[in-house]
Amino acid sequence: MRERTILTVIVISLVLIAIGYLVATQIDLSALLPVQASSRSVIVDQLFRILMGIATVIFLVVEGALIYAVIRFRKAPGDESDAAPIHGNNALEIIWTFIPAVIVAVIGVYSYQVLTEIERPGEEPLVVEVTARQFFWEFYYPEADVSSQILHLPLGKTVHFQITSEDVIHSFWVPEFRVKQDATPGQISELIVTPTKVGRYPIRCAELCGPGHAAMTSEVVVEEQADFERWLRGDIVAGATPAGQAQPESADQTGRALFVDLGCSACHSLQNAGATGIVGPALDGIGQAAAGRVADLDAEEYLRQSLLEPDAHIVDGFTGNLMPNDYDERLSEEQISTLVDYLLDQ
Ligand code: CUA
Repeated sequence: MRERTILTVIVISLVLIAIGYLVATQIDLSALLPVQASSRSVIVDQLFRILMGIATVIFLVVEGALIYAVIRFRKAPGDESDAAPIHGNNALEIIWTFIPAVIVAVIGVYSYQVLTEIERPGEEPLVVEVTARQFFWEFYYPEADVSSQILHLPLGKTVHFQITSEDVIHSFWVPEFRVKQDATPGQISELIVTPTKVGRYPIRCAELCGPGHAAMTSEVVVEEQADFERWLRGDIVAGATPAGQAQPESADQTGRALFVDLGCSACHSLQNAGATGIVGPALDGIGQAAAGRVADLDAEEYLRQSLLEPDAHIVDGFTGNLMPNDYDERLSEEQISTLVDYLLDQ
């Protein structure tokens, strides 16, 4: 009887292992995961596949044994007697300690290899300093002394990100690169990535950092080396225009480009700029609305002061201490005027 039960459990386990293996190998993870756009995404996905496979097999075997036990050893109708006392089973305990220990050890060694591989420094890497602020990203290229709110990277070149935050903890996340790294105030975290696929991919914040967290997005543009260099040369503090596109010509276009590149869209809504943020006041019609907001200030004065000293006038229903207050340092006088004029026209 006892032998039959053990035999049954072994047979069921073997069948479930076979099913688990088939399921794990047949799942097309590439259809579920984002495209692989960096060299590390291939080995990270491989590791994920193996973990997923092992987990699938263990899940089926454990749940299969559980269901079998529940049915096979259920109480017979009218049986009020106690179950037989059991004082442990050495063989069983050795088996269920040994097998998980081996699995964990194998996963540990393999994960360590993957980690070593993805953290290997590149030769002559491109250094990009990433600064997180509530609620936008800034990317600074120290060699070229260029900063941008959109991340441009040359194809095939290893990038060393040096990530930090100016306020709270954020997390730099590019799903297509398979990277996620906390941005911590007062600390610089290094992250190494080699982009392998031309394209545009979303950048997200993966750490709840305040009311604008969900809107704290940007974009990484992976492009050919020549396109990247052209972009880098043509860039101004915030006038980052995607490579291959014409530089903005009219004042209106420059204003819109500034608005977008400074990350204003993360918090404000403005139809002209395709912005839908809800953290800060809506800006459609602001050219009219700005005039009557504060006595003694005309629309231009109001907008200029609201840009440079964001907490000077808080619109009803919104909180202060959220908008960056260093635009007087980050923008030239010309850029400030362009932005104010742009908003006056809205
Ligand atoms: Cu920054 Cu969430």
